Amino acid sequence: MEIRELNDANCKTYILVSGNHAALIDPVRERALRYRREVEEHGWQLELIIETHTHADHMMISRELKEALGAPYLMHRESPIPIVDRHLSDGETLELGEETIEVLHTPGHTPDSICLRVPGAVLTGDTLLIGGSGRTDFPGGDAGAQYDAVTSRLFRLPDDTVVWPGHDYKGRTASTIGDERRANPRFLDRSREQYVEAMANLGLPLPDRIQGVLQVNQSSFEHDEVAFPPVTEVATVEEVGAPDVERRLRSDSPPLLVDVREPEEFVGELGHIEGALLVPLDALGQRLPKLAGYVDRDIVVVCRAGARSATAAAMLRRAGFSRIANLEGGMLAWVRASLPVQH
Ligand SMILES: [Fe+2]
Repeated sequence: MEIRELNDANCKTYILVSGNHAALIDPVRERALRYRREVEEHGWQLELIIETHTHADHMMISRELKEALGAPYLMHRESPIPIVDRHLSDGETLELGEETIEVLHTPGHTPDSICLRVPGAVLTGDTLLIGGSGRTDFPGGDAGAQYDAVTSRLFRLPDDTVVWPGHDYKGRTASTIGDERRANPRFLDRSREQYVEAMANLGLPLPDRIQGVLQVNQSSFEHDEVAFPPVTEVATVEEVGAPDVERRLRSDSPPLLVDVREPEEFVGELGHIEGALLVPLDALGQRLPKLAGYVDRDIVVVCRAGARSATAAAMLRRAGFSRIANLEGGMLAWVRASLPVQH
């Protein structure tokens, strides 16, 4: 399998080619149409678009660009993003021509982080970088999980496996599992506890564009179609676990559930909670007057993974709704807790 890096920049996009079959990994929005030209010029067939995780530092493709690229969009099940065509699980293999791509679920940088193992190499996304690892201080980050993923999964691959990271800030392109296991200072001679402590004390500033990027990515919008509240404000929304929400729903004064997913998701694989009011995130602003009657009521906002709903909850709070909470982990957590759904 041929592996090509396309951006020649800090944020890396790869194209995997087997025969004339191609897979695009981590496309950057501004360059999407260039990737399509490149694929066409080579006479390749673009068959897969895979994201190694939900990115916070560059704009991911929108639903319009996904249509323009004309290939299915794949992410791990934990992805919050509404336009995913196929959700991936750990250990799953994807066919590309005569060869296969194996999915390794490696949460830590984000809950939906995956690495892609191909013959002789592994694309490590932001899980393992050359001499480093992806930061774990964004929402859903988990340094302990990342330590486990790297030391118990990636470092057990053959030493000569080539590592293609999702980022590099020093112009390097590739490394090997052996080199990283022997010399990556983040992991070298560090216990899990020491790693967690070190990651908590990196003191990195938030990426420049996180405000305009993360919430747009989590919603697959074309532009800033929604007046998003600052991420710092989103972070202060009360989170309520699925069993607790279920208990509140059975009480004498049940909260109103506002589900901000897309209509297809509402009736899709995960279903929805009985009685939930569907108000897709991009329609929330417009529907506010209709929600005015609920301004003094307890409201729990719901989405797929709890990201879009946290944003929506902060928007509702800004609009004067005071008793707002977020279903922590979204419908993924609700279904994981085996609570009832409707389709
Ligand atoms: Fe990332």
